[in-house]
Amino acid sequence: MAYDDLRDWISALDRAGELKRIRAEVDPILEITEITDRVSKSTNGGPALLFENVKGYRGWHVLINQFGSARRMKLALGVDSLDEIANRIHQFLDVKSPEGLLQKIKMLPMLAEMGKFFPKTVSRGPCKEVIRRDEFDLLNMPVLQCWPKDAGRFITLPCVITRDPKTGKRNVGMYRMQVYDARTAGMHWQRQKVGAEHYRERMRAAGSASASPAAAVDLMARSGGGAIEPEGERPQGKMEVAVAIGTEPALTFAAVIPAPPDVEEFMIAGFLRQKPVELVKCETVDLEVPATAEIVLEGYVNLDELRTEGPFGDHTGFYSLEDLYPVFHVTCVTHRKSPIYATTIVGKPPMEDAWMGKAIERIFLPLMRVTLPEIVDVNLPVEAVFHNLMIVSIRKSYPGHARKVMNGIWAMGQAMFTKCIVVVDEDCDVQNVREVVLRVANHIDPERDIQFTLGPVDSLDHSSRLPNFGSKMGIDATRKWPTEGFTRPWPEEIRMDEATRQRVNAMWKKLGIE
Ligand SMILES: Cc1cc2nc3c(=O)[nH]c(=O)nc-3n(C[C@H](O)[C@H](O)[C@H](O)COP(=O)(O)O)c2cc1C
Repeated sequence: MAYDDLRDWISALDRAGELKRIRAEVDPILEITEITDRVSKSTNGGPALLFENVKGYRGWHVLINQFGSARRMKLALGVDSLDEIANRIHQFLDVKSPEGLLQKIKMLPMLAEMGKFFPKTVSRGPCKEVIRRDEFDLLNMPVLQCWPKDAGRFITLPCVITRDPKTGKRNVGMYRMQVYDARTAGMHWQRQKVGAEHYRERMRAAGSASASPAAAVDLMARSGGGAIEPEGERPQGKMEVAVAIGTEPALTFAAVIPAPPDVEEFMIAGFLRQKPVELVKCETVDLEVPATAEIVLEGYVNLDELRTEGPFGDHTGFYSLEDLYPVFHVTCVTHRKSPIYATTIVGKPPMEDAWMGKAIERIFLPLMRVTLPEIVDVNLPVEAVFHNLMIVSIRKSYPGHARKVMNGIWAMGQAMFTKCIVVVDEDCDVQNVREVVLRVANHIDPERDIQFTLGPVDSLDHSSRLPNFGSKMGIDATRKWPTEGFTRPWPEEIRMDEATRQRVNAMWKKLGIE
């Protein structure tokens, strides 16, 4: 089920009883956060909220919490269960080379389905209903100040579109943007993200960085989030960027997915909605944007300009510290008539992002299994803000297997940020945190079973020894084997025998306990 645009999605939310329209006047400065935070913390994440009377923004509507429940996340992706998407991915991964005509014919529906993934460029779209090349001000949009100690107002749900100068491939990433003034905003792509890599590629192409190790250090710092002032000659030139706000839900979600850098999120959105994303060319930059977006910001970032960004009340439940990031200069704003501003807030979990993260956990399981087929299930507890804790069950087959899985996870895309990995045997239900704690507490000899390593950590980690670099921990809570040096007997888990359980089931009512 594909939604044509954000409005179609809002109507679907309304029909499903998943939307609350708020007609009372509320301030985008702090008040929307306080209301949304309370709703997010209510049973099952509460409804999506459409604020129809935003103080100082007559005519603007603000949509928030659109993904903020398990039910809405499934509705957004048009499935009854997220496993349906995981199964579809699995089907594609499971393709064998066809032998003979019959098998080739059987593959035709799959090939036809693949045709739906690719984006389609169209000549016009509603995102161009109003085109403003001169008269615009970013603060004409009801951008929220989320938390009291935020550095200002932040665009929190933007789809940031960039192009790899080497391959020409486009990336869509969700990176918050602090509004500095009418025409500039911070571009908070963390250094390990694809937008930051495109920016570094531009710098390499500009010939500003030689291949020396010192230049590489400087290049990293200059791409933002370096926490050190870059030194030396600053490169000239700029990189074009477009930002879409208020897209249909599959694309908004795709911008968050930690996809491999070479896979375009436009295609992922096409796969999720089973219908191509329609794109239109921008007015002032050589990029394409979703034709039905509510608002599009076109512009560029200079290769020689960084500015302090943050602090910002972040996913972790703490303020992320200020740091240097590139500055986005707006050259043109296009939007629909009476645009709807889509946003979110992050903070102490659970918030809307918790449900997006859980969906990613389910959808990524088959992809993780391509590299690590021994993985049975994975749980990224919301309270640990996803990158801080991953619990994984495995089918253990050889000595040291749990450690191999830890290292495999730390080598896998954005899973590299995982601060703590807990590995349990396949008979442990990782979704049952009580059972996991029982296993970990009972099964480990801490000195033997905890492994430390060093590597990249999430930019939001405020405790690591350095920004972006720190230690990680793996806990091997699997049963230990003699071949791993454990020669004592391993005790059996306590379980009642089935015959006794059945006898007690039969007499249960008579006992009068309930
Ligand atoms: C609401 C929300 C806000 C986010 N803000 C940022 C951000 O400011 N900077 C960042 O690097 N990642 C941010 N992320 C995470 C990225 O969107 C995520 O890592 C994504 O996979 C990046 O895309 P990329 O792999 O194409 O770079 C945010 C995620 C969500 C859900």
